[in-house]
Amino acid sequence: MVRKLERTLILVKPDGVKRRLSGKILTRFEEKGMKIVALKLLKLTTEKAELHYSVHKEKPFFRDLVNYITSGPIIAAILEGNNCINATRNLLGATDGSKAQPGTIRGDYSMGIEKNIVHASDSPESYQHEFPIYFKKEEIIEAQYGDEPHIY
Ligand code: CMP
Repeated sequence: MVRKLERTLILVKPDGVKRRLSGKILTRFEEKGMKIVALKLLKLTTEKAELHYSVHKEKPFFRDLVNYITSGPIIAAILEGNNCINATRNLLGATDGSKAQPGTIRGDYSMGIEKNIVHASDSPESYQHEFPIYFKKEEIIEAQYGDEPHIY
């Protein structure tokens, strides 16, 4: 069996936290079989938000995106699992919640493209760029939970 053990960074955005959906959203990832290896509630600074979204800095929506993601508390987590980046994005659904399939997180909880509930890294390179904005290496827990056949 070929395994691709990966990590990804997810954010429950300000609309998700404000609507008290954080627990439900984390449950979706856990029930899928992903392991939470780092987790925190924080309010992002403008500098960190600009760094996170630097790939979009020439886009017309960049300033709105930064203003929005810094507007309230967010939850940041690192998830681990087999093929985790792709699996997470499949669970999120399309970027625009109004177009996302029912059954996906955005499909179930979002009607927009800005307030789209959750962010997730879209590639291993994005993960490497994003995770140090939120976590120090020592905040990532390497320990196994126990026997985890469903994850792999
Ligand atoms: P996210 O996964 O956080 O990554 C970049 C974000 O930019 C994306 O989710 C959307 O919230 C936002 N975004 C992408 N395209 C647009 C757009 N056309 N207008 C406004 N926001 C956008």
